[in-house]
Amino acid sequence: MSVETTSARMTSAEIVAQNRANTFFSWSIQSALDPIAIDHAEGVYLYTPEGKRILDFNSQLMSVNIGHGDRRVIDAITAQALKLQYVQPAFATEIRGRLGAKMAEIMPGDMDKVFFTLGGAEAIENAIKFARHHTGRYKVLARYRAYHGATFGAMTLTGDPRRWANEPGLVGVVRYPDTHRWGEAEPRPVGESLQGLEDVIRYEGAHTIAGIFLETIVGTNGILIPPDGYLKGVREICDRNNILMVCDEVMAGFGRTGRWFAVDHWDVVPDLMTMAKGLTSSYLPLGAVGMRHGIAEAFENKMFHGGLTYSSHPVSLAAALATISVYEQDDLIGNAQRLGPVMQAHHERLAAKHTSVGAHRNLGLFGIIDLVRSRDPWTPLTPYNGTSDEMKAIGKFFRENGLYTFLPNNSIHTNPPLCITEDQLAEGFDVIDRALDIADQAVAG
Ligand SMILES: Cc1ncc(COP(=O)(O)O)c(C=O)c1O
Repeated sequence: MSVETTSARMTSAEIVAQNRANTFFSWSIQSALDPIAIDHAEGVYLYTPEGKRILDFNSQLMSVNIGHGDRRVIDAITAQALKLQYVQPAFATEIRGRLGAKMAEIMPGDMDKVFFTLGGAEAIENAIKFARHHTGRYKVLARYRAYHGATFGAMTLTGDPRRWANEPGLVGVVRYPDTHRWGEAEPRPVGESLQGLEDVIRYEGAHTIAGIFLETIVGTNGILIPPDGYLKGVREICDRNNILMVCDEVMAGFGRTGRWFAVDHWDVVPDLMTMAKGLTSSYLPLGAVGMRHGIAEAFENKMFHGGLTYSSHPVSLAAALATISVYEQDDLIGNAQRLGPVMQAHHERLAAKHTSVGAHRNLGLFGIIDLVRSRDPWTPLTPYNGTSDEMKAIGKFFRENGLYTFLPNNSIHTNPPLCITEDQLAEGFDVIDRALDIADQAVAG
């Protein structure tokens, strides 16, 4: 049988059938799949082959931060591909130096060197190596309400249920307390969370711990914004114990929260910082580990035991440099900051109108609405790691009404591209407003 590889127009049904026949989808029971076929995308909208428009209210995986189809990035990718597609990472290239210098400019404090990977999980893997090589210790601390990627080390650091089927994982990963407990609307007091971390360090032995990993703002586990004082407290504990502070900014970074990086909100400089997603706005795969000057300097005379065939891939680097320039030219980070209060007002309006809205949070355009059966006692609309008929019905409603977003557990994520306008934001919240009528019917009393 001949296989069509060029651009003959196929229907959605044909595309889905062929995708399902010969390609494997992640995080799925294959027979339960019902993917939407996408033909092209522009700005905040995706289009099916039949021309149906879908508002992308989650920037795909919180990653297409500049929006879809930006010619400036596409042209930069094309120009680099025409000039030099690939050299192995031991060579030096102009694009590598230019992107490195730009990242040194935007990263916090004295972070001035980056190691390039292919994505977020690889950035985490290499951050574990950097922390271990640098300190000579092997343990790494991580939290339960966390996702760090699906490779083995990153999966072990991941505390959420996606880890379970992948265990046993890396030796030396130890959990420390979360700022937010499942089933509670508010974070625990800062002092309690920090004391919990101190306890774990005491019991494990500071001299055995290489790094403390944390998502600066927890992403897929609930847009959990750390209370003021928490990050500074972790920084102080790390300094006191000579442990590296490793902030995962794969999702929270690159303007999502209205600053270049989420750590910038609290003036904290981590020792290592992992990045991906918004770095290229996902136009091409790329991740990075950023490091402080002192750590980079220590490796001047010490071997780093790590590498990747595609580290510093020139075409991905060109996508990143052009993406960073789009953030700057269009003041997208300013837009995320300006629209933060607008998103909050939408959340508040929905909470006032719909009894099923139990809580909402956002920083810039990093947002979430938590749904409940009852606000008091607090009863989430789904069990932990589960779903419910109401959440399924909300997902169906969004699909029928042209809205794409992420719906884990009892939550509706609101993370549109940073180029979104106020009108487009209102358009998305109008669909959510109508969908919440379904959830309201589940509210007790
Ligand atoms: C905070 C965080 N870290 C790491 C990752 C893993 O990134 P990737 O899927 O590019 O490997 C993700 C992915 O969602 C993430 O949200």
